[in-house]
Amino acid sequence: MTDRDSSTYTHNDNPYLHVASFYDIQGEIDPRQLMGDGDLELEIGFGRGQFIRERAVNASIKILGIETKRKLVYLCEQKARLQKIENLMVMHGDAREVIARMQPEGVFQSVFIHFPDPWWKARHQKRKVVTDDVTENVVRLLKPGGHYFVQTDVDFRAEEYLRILQSNPALEPVHGDGMTDENMFNARSSRERRAMDLGMPVYRILFKKK
Ligand SMILES: C[S@@+](CC[C@H](N)C(=O)[O-])C[C@H]1O[C@@H](n2cnc3c(N)ncnc32)[C@H](O)[C@@H]1O
Repeated sequence: MTDRDSSTYTHNDNPYLHVASFYDIQGEIDPRQLMGDGDLELEIGFGRGQFIRERAVNASIKILGIETKRKLVYLCEQKARLQKIENLMVMHGDAREVIARMQPEGVFQSVFIHFPDPWWKARHQKRKVVTDDVTENVVRLLKPGGHYFVQTDVDFRAEEYLRILQSNPALEPVHGDGMTDENMFNARSSRERRAMDLGMPVYRILFKKK
């Protein structure tokens, strides 16, 4: 698996090189071994880490984050340490590969993917995160009744993600067709906050495992 961040390293002292990485774990990954027992949640592609940190502060859960950019893992970890947040763990990796190795089934209470787009160019399509395969693994890892929450500000991506979630037989919409006006998780991502500040639409998709 290629590490898309490697071109930014200058020398071995770069602190970003030393963040916890899923590539240091061979084979199966058990989130309970990483985080201990309790209500576990997962965020894929946490970026600047605003949602994951707010969620950790505002909810009685433990949350794990996966991010392809080592620098963002480092920065989120530093901020979490300064805020003395202990119910959060962030690690480097490509979530598409990492969640395929996660066991056991039904380990997460909720899975979040906020603003995974854009991958506009045709050659970037292969980097898409909300796919049938990822959704299959998310569903496998969710507890029955557990939430799968996806947000975007791109209308045609929202339609695409909605179709993907609607076509998974193990998922059911929480409201109506699966779109929801509210983010009920008491935390917002940077992109979500920015879109709201600019008065742009935010498309929110919320399903739960049957
Ligand atoms: C557009 S940003 C959104 C960041 C944040 N979720 C937000 O809403 O502010 C997408 C993030 O997903 C990360 N990402 C993209 N593909 C990923 C993958 N396969 N696994 C983990 N993270 C990924 C990117 O590095 C980037 O930080």
